Amino acid sequence: MSLLRTCIGNLELERPGMVASGIMDETGDSMMRMIKLGAGAVVTKSVGSVKRDGHVNPSFIEFPFGYLNAMGLPNPGIDDFKDEMMIATKAGTIIASVFASSPKEFSSLAERMEIFGASAVELNLSCPHAKGYGIEMGTDVKMVHKIVSTVKNTVKIPVYAKLTPNTHILADIGKAVQDAGGDAVVAINTLKAMSISPEFAMPVLSNRFGGLSGPALRPIGVRAIYDLRSALEIPLIGVGGICSWRDAAEYIMAGASAFQVGSAIASDINIFKKINKGLECFMKEFGYSSIEKMVGAAHE
Ligand code: DHB
Repeated sequence: MSLLRTCIGNLELERPGMVASGIMDETGDSMMRMIKLGAGAVVTKSVGSVKRDGHVNPSFIEFPFGYLNAMGLPNPGIDDFKDEMMIATKAGTIIASVFASSPKEFSSLAERMEIFGASAVELNLSCPHAKGYGIEMGTDVKMVHKIVSTVKNTVKIPVYAKLTPNTHILADIGKAVQDAGGDAVVAINTLKAMSISPEFAMPVLSNRFGGLSGPALRPIGVRAIYDLRSALEIPLIGVGGICSWRDAAEYIMAGASAFQVGSAIASDINIFKKINKGLECFMKEFGYSSIEKMVGAAHE
């Protein structure tokens, strides 16, 4: 049996590392490529009901410690994403990320993604800057409960909720997901942030605000998973600043049954192979016979 096998509820993965939503996941071919390069699953780009072009440039800034972006949820719309799903789901486990502005819209997108062959759906309740979407709904406990229960009443595939770090009530939001029947919590999405050009005396991003990702986020994400593990019983998926097997191990020991890698893929397409190898070596050396045995180890 593979040492790296893990379960998120009843979804079994051969490897615990997933491609996070928003990178190398816009086309069926790019998702297939990431599965071949060692990802245990791929989360799709967040897809909505209709096509969106996204924000004009500048929409992306690189820092020494991560990236700041406000792409504006660009996507082809659910109808045109079907062909990509048909290609991707043949290659491996695909988790469909969706964004919407009402519980009903979330459930109809989830229903389509289930038909397209998604193994689970990830609700984007955490985009930090899009008006009417993301954190505007994802920090309202009652709204989160309503969204998750509406989607749960519609689809049979597992329902995950991706939460924001831009809140002091993360555990309450996590509980709302759990109480509504959610199958797992994914934490964290990007942190709301901005950058200003002194020369132009104006914000750099055309949208002014964006989401910060990359290594700077890791200690915040690890703390979020640790807190959620103390508050919840449902499985957790850790994401934020993972660049190496050590970073992945931190999230697992904080309480995550699986993890996602985003920004680090941009500088190293082979990151999953390296993380898989490193994790396996560590587990052998320290006597962990399964990922499950490592999950939450830092709490004991
Ligand atoms: C965007 C969406 C996100 O969920 C996020 O965390 C950052 C940016 C976007 O499409 O702009």
